[in-house]
Amino acid sequence: MVTQSTVILGTGSYTPERILTNEELSKMVETSDEWIRTRSGIKERRIAAPGESTSDMAVHAARAALTDAGLLASDIDLLVVATITPDLPLPAAACIIQHKLGMRTNAACFDINAACSGFIYGIDTACAMLTSGRYHKALVIGAEKLSAIVDWKERTTCVLFGDGAGAVVIGCSDQPNIGLIGSRLGAYGESVDLLCIPKGGSDSPATPESIAAGDHFMRMKGKEVFKLAVRAMDEAARDILEQYSLHADQISLVIPHQANLRIIEAISKYLELPMDRFFVNVDRYGNTSAASVPIALDEARKSGRIKPGDITLLVAFGAGLTYGSALIRW
Ligand SMILES: CC(C)(COP(=O)(O)OP(=O)(O)OC[C@H]1O[C@@H](n2cnc3c(N)ncnc32)[C@H](O)[C@@H]1OP(=O)(O)O)[C@@H](O)C(=O)NCCC(=O)NCCS
Repeated sequence: MVTQSTVILGTGSYTPERILTNEELSKMVETSDEWIRTRSGIKERRIAAPGESTSDMAVHAARAALTDAGLLASDIDLLVVATITPDLPLPAAACIIQHKLGMRTNAACFDINAACSGFIYGIDTACAMLTSGRYHKALVIGAEKLSAIVDWKERTTCVLFGDGAGAVVIGCSDQPNIGLIGSRLGAYGESVDLLCIPKGGSDSPATPESIAAGDHFMRMKGKEVFKLAVRAMDEAARDILEQYSLHADQISLVIPHQANLRIIEAISKYLELPMDRFFVNVDRYGNTSAASVPIALDEARKSGRIKPGDITLLVAFGAGLTYGSALIRW
């Protein structure tokens, strides 16, 4: 078969049962439901159960996506996992997930670290590998246990993040102009320090002092990230629309990274596209990094917000600062 297109065959998502509300958080750090809601739009987030790992959540989402696609784990020959919170620093979460899913051993398995843009980087990579003709069925997962890298004493970050996983199965089609139309990826590497885990990498391995200082947790300069996020997402959306000669009005639904409702509202204003064309679930899950776009995509599909023929725009930004956009025709 001549591969003309790469198409999404199924989607799935999983979020842990435990709900952590703003009210509960306000008993843990000096904050309030009102502050969190007005600054971010977040009302609650999900937190993994004790012992529940990133790979466990990924496996739930992957099974749901495989069922939706009518495929078995053994049909997959390419597994791409977007995550900044793998179960272990080494090896890749993909290998742990491969084993838990019972996938075959001659499947390519690797992780992508592009933070909150990771899922868009993941689908772009998988689609390029499928189009090469050397792979046939890909599973792309975004999964995060951010509760493990958040400093629960630091109110400026801990109120924003949550745990979860989302997945898609991608295959090939000989039909032209459907599925992943194209994507636009990039990064502002000069802004690494705006959102990072300062210590614990090979450049400065963890020490008792760095751990006491909490430098193994995520640190963020929120205001600067906010400004760059709006710029990056607006540019990534505009660039891809221009590249494929589309007007924003032709987009039926935008699935933005769910970091902050105010960021999504700013993109809506800049693109002159009303908020009802944006899928929003940040109120229920907070920012789940690489899991955010695939969870939203799955919920949008399953709630009937995506119909055959629709064009969906995915757009995200994250630590790095990375950004990415992708157009999908259904
Ligand atoms: C973090 C963020 C919500 C803060 O919103 P903001 O409008 O910049 O914040 P404001 O200027 O209104 O408030 C800052 C003040 O609130 C305080 N504050 C911070 N976190 C708080 C909290 N959880 N509860 C109450 N007060 C808080 C700060 O200490 C600061 O106080 P100061 O003015 O006395 O120094 C916002 O900048 C943001 O969302 N940034 C992007 C973050 C992001 O998306 N990161 C992920 C990228 S993938």
